[in-house]
Parts: sequence; C-alpha cells; structure tokens
Amino acid sequence: MPFPETFLTELTERSDIVDVVSGYVRLSKRSGANLFGLCPFHSEKTPSFSVSPDKQIYHCFGCGKGGGVINFIMEIENLSFPEAVEFLAKRAGMALPEESNDRESRKRSRMLALNKDAARFFYEQLSTPAGAPALAYMQRRGIGPVTAKNFGVGFAPDTWDSLVKAMHAKGYADLELFDAGLARQGKSGGFYDTFRNRLMFPVIDVRGNVIGFSGRILGDGEPKYMNSPETLVFNKSRNLFALNLAKKSKSGYIILAEGNIDVVSMHQAGFDSAVASLGTSLTPEQARLLSRFTNEVIIAYDNDGAGKKAAQRAIGILEKLDLKVRVLAMNGAKDPDEFIRTKGPAAFRNLLEGSEDQVDYRLRGVLEKYDLSQDAQKVAFLREATELVARLPGSAEREVYAMRVATLAGIPADAVTAEVKQRRKRLLRSANRETERKQTRPGRITETPGVKRYEDEASGMAEEGIVRVLLLDGALAGSSALPPPEDFTVPELRHIYTEILARLRGGGEISPATLGGVLNGEEMSLLIRLQEAPLAAANSERALNDYIHKLYECKELRQKPSGPEDLLALQQKLRERKGY
Ligand code: GTP
Ligand code: MN
Repeated sequence: MPFPETFLTELTERSDIVDVVSGYVRLSKRSGANLFGLCPFHSEKTPSFSVSPDKQIYHCFGCGKGGGVINFIMEIENLSFPEAVEFLAKRAGMALPEESNDRESRKRSRMLALNKDAARFFYEQLSTPAGAPALAYMQRRGIGPVTAKNFGVGFAPDTWDSLVKAMHAKGYADLELFDAGLARQGKSGGFYDTFRNRLMFPVIDVRGNVIGFSGRILGDGEPKYMNSPETLVFNKSRNLFALNLAKKSKSGYIILAEGNIDVVSMHQAGFDSAVASLGTSLTPEQARLLSRFTNEVIIAYDNDGAGKKAAQRAIGILEKLDLKVRVLAMNGAKDPDEFIRTKGPAAFRNLLEGSEDQVDYRLRGVLEKYDLSQDAQKVAFLREATELVARLPGSAEREVYAMRVATLAGIPADAVTAEVKQRRKRLLRSANRETERKQTRPGRITETPGVKRYEDEASGMAEEGIVRVLLLDGALAGSSALPPPEDFTVPELRHIYTEILARLRGGGEISPATLGGVLNGEEMSLLIRLQEAPLAAANSERALNDYIHKLYECKELRQKPSGPEDLLALQQKLRERKGY
C-alpha cells in the first residue's frame, strides 16, 4: 500500500537526516553548510560522505550514493521502502496511517477544486454591485484590472454566507468548506464564511493549484490580513505568494518582499519576479523552493526595524543554499509599493540595479550591534568587521571595505588593512589544508566535461535535461511535446522520467521521500545529482523544447546511418546477408 504524501512529508520532517545518520556515521562540521563523515557504503580513509541539514539529503562524492533519509535507512539497514518507513515511523513515534492513498489523494484534489471554485467566486464578485467597495479600494491602491486578473484578485462580500451558499450550489458540503478553511462553524452549529468583506488574494503553487487565500481588509482595521489555516493542501512555510508568476520571469533574480500588496504593485510596474512569504519570516523550506528557480535573491523587505531584522535572518538562510543575495535600501519609502508609487518604476529599477550588496548590508548589521563609544565594544566590532572583510574574495574589494571599517570605527586605515591581511592569511592557510585534503580523497568522482557517461552521450544529456526541467517546473508535465518514455535511451533516466511524470500529472509531490518507494538506490542517487545541478530557469519551457528537440535528433541519428562510410558498411552487411 503506498503511503500518503502528507504522512511521508511529516515522517521526513520528524526524522532529521543529521540525527538519523549520526546513529551510524560520525559526522563532523567543516567550513560550509554540510557535515562530513566516512562513507558507510564504501571503504575509505578520508571522509567524502556529506550530509546537508538544509537540503535534508546525503551524498557521497566517493561512491556516488545519495538520497533522502528514507533511502539512507533502506541502504544501511537493508530494508525495502515500506520497511524503512516503518522503521523511521517507530523511531519518530508516529503511527502508520490507515487511510489509503486513494482516499487521501481524492480528498486533496477535491479540496483543490473547491479552492479554484472559491477563487472564481471571489473574482466574479468584483463585477457585481456588491463588489463596488473592493473596486474602489483597488483603485485607491492603484491595482488595475489586468493585474487583478493575473493574480486572480477577488472580493469576499460583506455577508455571512455568500461563499458557503455558492459552494453548496456547486455540490460542496459544509465539512469540505470547513476542512479547506473557507468556512467556520458557529455556536449554533451552522457554518459561515471565514473571509468576509476582504480583498482576496489566492495563493497559487508552482503547479498552478489554488492552495489557499490571503484576505486583506478594505482600508484600516484589525486584523489587516487573514490567511487560510494550514490544510491538507496549504502549508504556509513551504509556499510563496506569486511564485507561480515569478517563476516565469526572465529577470534572472527573484525579489523577495513582505507584503502581498508590495508584490502586486511590483508586478504591475513590470518587476515580474517578486514574491512574498505568507505572513511568516522566510523559512528554510521556502528558501529551498526559491533555489529551484533562481540563484539570486534580492530582498525588498519593509524599511523598518522588523523588516531589517527579518532581512538579516533571510540572508543567513539564503546563503546557506549558495544563493547570491542582495538587499534593497529603500530610502524615503516604507516599502516597495510606496517607493514605486512615489518615485516611479524607473527609480525602482535603478535601486534594483544598484541594490546594496550584502557586504555593505552586513557591515551595517555588525555596526548596529555595538556601541563604538565604549572601547571594549569597539574592539569587538573591529574583530567581527575585519573577519567579514577578510573573507571577501577580491583584494580591491577588501581594500575598499577595510577603509569603510576604519572610517566607521574612527581609527587609521592602515591598522584595519593590516588586521585584515593577518586574518586573510590565517583563512588561506586553513583553506589550503582543506583543498589538500579534498585532492587526496580516493575514488572521487569528478564530473569532467567530455567524459562519457552514457552510450549515446548526447541523448543521455538531453534526457537529463528534460528530467531537470521537470523537477524545476512541474507545470510542464502537462506539455504535449514531452516524448514517450520509450524514447529515453538511459534505463535509469527512463524510469525516473516515468515516475515523476506520473506523480506530477496526478497532482503529487516530488521528493526523496515519495520517490524512495519506486526508484532504486542508483536511480535515487542520479535523481539527487540532477536536482543538485543548478539550472538557470529563465525560460524553462524553451529549455524543455530544446532538450526534446535534441533527443529526437539523436534518435534519428541512431536510426539513420550517419555518413558515406556507414552507408558502405551497411551495403556490405546487406550483401553479406543476401549472400552476394
Ligand atoms: P499594506 O501595504 O499595508 O496594504 O499591506 P502589505 O500587503 O504590504 O502587507 P504588510 O507589509 O503590512 O504585511 C506583510 C505580510 O504580513 C502580509 O502580506 C501578510 O501576509 C502578513 N500580515 C500582515 N498583517 C497581518 C495580520 O494582521 N495577520 C496575519 N495573519 N498576517 C498579517
Ligand atoms: Mn506593505
């Protein structure tokens, strides 16, 4: 019996990979985000087995094995997938689910259908007399009809049960509305609308499902926003508002803001890669999600104390995933919406292009921690600031920032520069030791370009590409241009492709946990490698089409003899077979 996705997700969340692996391997922290240890799957003397707490995966550079926590248990305990799940469930103190997967996925798709119908209902209210106050508010906030349509902005009328009634008429039961967070139960037992008299923003996941709502009060009042509760399909910490739109942007970066209105007005002004976390501070899951679509994030949080604090936290989380991070310094405006409204899109574009790099931003963060009029604190500031500067890669860059530190602390530039040099030397020494260690690692698989991995290398690479694009943008699973799995030449990739297509088309999720049951260890390791390889997703649809094109080209080449020599050989063969 397949396990429900929500169960597997919870199981993996409660089975931290570092904890689990530490039961078998002694892990130690090195520089960077990963932990290293001696690989339990092949014999080695220097550690090449890495565990990423952020990504919750393991990967051995020596033998190439990799996967999520469930695969680890399968491999090390020699268990089948269901057995490994049971093993981990016991460890985490979770009961195995009794509900069948069918029932669960039916419930999910029914809830998604309800959400979509509700979104349509809210949208339609804008063109009824009841929607007039919402239209007036949108006009006041400068949200135009095209933007409203793109985002599916709507209105929950100022009544007790408009939505409940409309959804009844479509055949949904009270309990379904309740489970989806769209209705609440009153003292008398009757159900009433959760969202009333609010401007409604549907939250749409990267596959295009309406998974929840965020409702803003028209004008002032408390609470300003009301969000859907966590439901079977809505998990705030794993989704971002407007990522469904931003993922299509060609800008090359994603702008991370706080407010829904900020996001809407940025899109309207042409900054189509803006997203917001859903009323929480950025979570590691959201950062991981972002890293699937971009390698650069520009933080555009509100220009206040809370926004600055949240930005510092977000920087830490994003940099762990090797994302490039910049921060917008919006002087003279409290948030992106106000900035664009008062200074115009061109000014905002300038701001984006010159957005403060994280060095300045961090330096300012360090500065704010200390009171430089106290000698002891000044010393502490210098220590932290010079350490930061010493880690910068460019010597000119180090020079510039050393000067800045000197100015801030009111001490001679030479003193700071000397201190930075000292620290830099120390850093380099330990970095050298690290690389030496890496180079002497035995059996290290390096992916040198030009080394053949597949029999039909070009086709194999195209197949890898197709799988990678699908991992990045599941919505493309619906594309009619996708080749049948038979056209894949690499058996492992063919199997991975078949499984992820089935899952994506069935509305399921792609994760090491859910795929562990169907992919073997080798396939899982390959999948992890593909997921880890960065792919710039400026235009995933075009990339997909290019790979498909390449795949067919290879197929033709294999079927057709490629040149005159081959033709001769072919003639020869035919002759031999015919006996003349
Ligand atoms: P305005 O520009 O003031 O219209 O709002 P905004 O859309 O820019 O939102 P704001 O910057 O005030 O808040 C940022 C985010 O925090 C919002 O998008 C919500 O997700 C969340 N949020 C704000 N206020 C509340 C609240 O009262 N309750 C809850 N649950 N979330 C809120
Ligand atoms: Mn705002």
